[in-house]
Amino acid sequence: MALYDLERWTYRNIARPPLFHLDPEVVHDRTTDFAEFFGRTAPTRALTRWFFRYDHPMLRQTIAGIDFANPIGLSAGFDKNARLTLIMPEIGFGFEEIGSVSLRPCRGNPKPRLHRLPASKSVVVNYGLMNDGASVIAARLAARPTAAAKFPLGISLVPTNDAQSTTIPAMVEEVVAAHRILAPYAAYVTLNLSCPNSCQPQPFMDPRALRELLPEVVKQPGQKPIFLKISPDVPKSQLDELMAAAADFGVTGFIATNLTKQREGNPALRDTNLPEKGGLSGGVVSALSDRTLEHLARQSHGRFVLMGVGGVFGPDDAYRKIGLGASLIQLITGMLYEGPGLLGSINRGLVDRLQRDGFKHISEAVGKDL
Ligand SMILES: Cc1cc2nc3c(=O)[nH]c(=O)nc-3n(C[C@H](O)[C@H](O)[C@H](O)COP(=O)(O)O)c2cc1C
Repeated sequence: MALYDLERWTYRNIARPPLFHLDPEVVHDRTTDFAEFFGRTAPTRALTRWFFRYDHPMLRQTIAGIDFANPIGLSAGFDKNARLTLIMPEIGFGFEEIGSVSLRPCRGNPKPRLHRLPASKSVVVNYGLMNDGASVIAARLAARPTAAAKFPLGISLVPTNDAQSTTIPAMVEEVVAAHRILAPYAAYVTLNLSCPNSCQPQPFMDPRALRELLPEVVKQPGQKPIFLKISPDVPKSQLDELMAAAADFGVTGFIATNLTKQREGNPALRDTNLPEKGGLSGGVVSALSDRTLEHLARQSHGRFVLMGVGGVFGPDDAYRKIGLGASLIQLITGMLYEGPGLLGSINRGLVDRLQRDGFKHISEAVGKDL
């Protein structure tokens, strides 16, 4: 048994039961403090790497000019304020997306704003885009040791979630200003079109509004590859229009998907007594994300790089999304339920599956099931 498998067993059977009795936001905050501490010194980083990380040449890819040691990334929302960028590579991630970050700081919605749904292996998220703001986060990224720059960092941008940014031109201006501050630290930039708990109802999921945002972003100097993170709750015709806008402005790819708002008639939602507000992750969004990913892959014929996210709890989920067209995978909820040993076991499990199916490299398996 590899050390990461031992950790996964220990997390599930010993650590998780008492942790799941505590408030989820408190657990997340204390975990962040602890993990940030472990990222601070070379010996603690080396120890973490020894314990958790699995590498294999079959998983290494260069995509949009970025070198990814493996295809599994931390999705936006776990490390909103870029405090964990030194420890995430040691745990075994191939990349990380920080944020979502807005130009101005945002305190988010009142607590409680995070709830577990254990029967559905999901969480309800109603943070309301809480973050420290672009300038504070840029200063934190600037203070990292130079070697840290090798770890690919995506930076997810959103308009500030408050009453000041209500019109499309104001929101475009904000995203552009945040881009100016943060893009120098990014391997790629994500425009989060789809936060389900902002006070504006996802304005840039409207293709017409997106066509106002994209030209302003792409004309900024120091361009990085741009990804659009989309909702799983929109019709295919709207996805087609978003793809057309993305193609017109040279967008690199899509991240499918954010949390779902769909509660009625979702067979994966097994818990009752849900809080009224919030987007749902994990098991509840998994099939919806897969469906969105598959549609993007089928319609875009290789024009876009696709990242699959939503309900990845093990190597089978990751491999399924790769088969549906994802070159890269992201996750959060899987790690909350399975612990950080999950990364090693997904990467190892991917290599096993690629070898079983006769592939020599992960890139050969992308879209194999379409
Ligand atoms: C606690 C939490 C906070 C999140 N915050 C953000 C966010 O700020 N920006 C964003 O684009 N997605 C956010 N998400 C959505 C995730 O990035 C991801 O798209 C979604 O949770 C599905 O993946 P999962 O099932 O692996 O969690 C958040 C998710 C969780 C669980």
